[in-house]
Amino acid sequence: MYVLGVETSCDETSVSIVKDGKEVLSNVVLSQIDIHREYGGVVPEIASREHVKGITYVFDKALRDAKLNYEDISLIAVTKGPGLIGSLLIGVNAAKVISLNYNIPIVGVHHIAGHIYANYIDNGMEFPLLALVVSGGHTELILMNEHYDFNRLGETQDDAVGEAYDKVARVLGLPYPGGPVVDKMAKTGRDVYKFPRPMIDSGDFNFSFSGLKSHIINLHHNMQQRNETINIENFCASFQEAVTDVLVAKTIKAKEQYKVKQVIVAGGVAANSGLRKKMKSMINDIPVYFPNMDYCTDNAAMIASAGYFQYKKYNKADDLLLNGQSRMNLEDIKNGN
Ligand code: KG4
Ligand code: ZN
Repeated sequence: MYVLGVETSCDETSVSIVKDGKEVLSNVVLSQIDIHREYGGVVPEIASREHVKGITYVFDKALRDAKLNYEDISLIAVTKGPGLIGSLLIGVNAAKVISLNYNIPIVGVHHIAGHIYANYIDNGMEFPLLALVVSGGHTELILMNEHYDFNRLGETQDDAVGEAYDKVARVLGLPYPGGPVVDKMAKTGRDVYKFPRPMIDSGDFNFSFSGLKSHIINLHHNMQQRNETINIENFCASFQEAVTDVLVAKTIKAKEQYKVKQVIVAGGVAANSGLRKKMKSMINDIPVYFPNMDYCTDNAAMIASAGYFQYKKYNKADDLLLNGQSRMNLEDIKNGN
């Protein structure tokens, strides 16, 4: 079954064709990062306009790369939320036009379900499994007892990890998006600051990163005022060590409590080299999977894979009232809506 995925929830315009949720025949991603970098973050209005400019091209290119026609597509899966509403609408409307024109069923997919299913593409899923979702907008631990079953064990009480990376990077004078740059600089730094590990012993599966972020920003500010030499690499390494210690500790606690068969990590921060290394070295009794680097940050292949499983499970397509939703709860899709 060929599924055409569409993703436009933030600053990537992407269309992909995936066979049976696994075999990626094409995955075209137009990234707007270079445009938003100038502003230090994503500007929603600009993002929407860029999606409009790129959307027709990515549909055409995805079909050409896969050597398929619309007549070969059995399902369209489009991100319906959460995300920037103006951006979501471009993908949703384009997908609806194709669905109507070629009479192809369409399903609206939760963006985070997509990030989770990025793991299905190169790895596989054995249940029960634990998913640590770490992106620019989400930080949560999800228990899955079967396909398309999402139970949230805990989540961030304030900033998402990716958001904290981006904000710390900005204060340190590093370009947007901060995550990959901080990660790179951390490699040559040392954990000299021993920042707090927030909520590491809280006894639940929730997270908090805004206190750590403020702590770092204040320290940096104070050092600047005292004209002290600031070693950016050590700041980055200390921040990354603190964050990854907390993420790994909570994941281990949840994996033990729920006796899962595998741990998967999903979302943009799954690309983080420190997290990949620490998680794999600290968990040895069950498999730990990360998506291929191409599928960590936003892409439509993961949406096509998730859409395939959503459709298979609920056997239910959306009608043309399908709309973008800036906020959406992953657990609400339990009934297939
Ligand atoms: O999943 P994603 O592409 O978009 C959302 O759905 O939010 O995640 C983007 C986030 C950004 O905050 C970016 O800084 C972060 O993922 N990120 C990283 C790395 N690569 C991307 N954070 C830490 N280390 C990385 N290597
Ligand atoms: Zn994302």
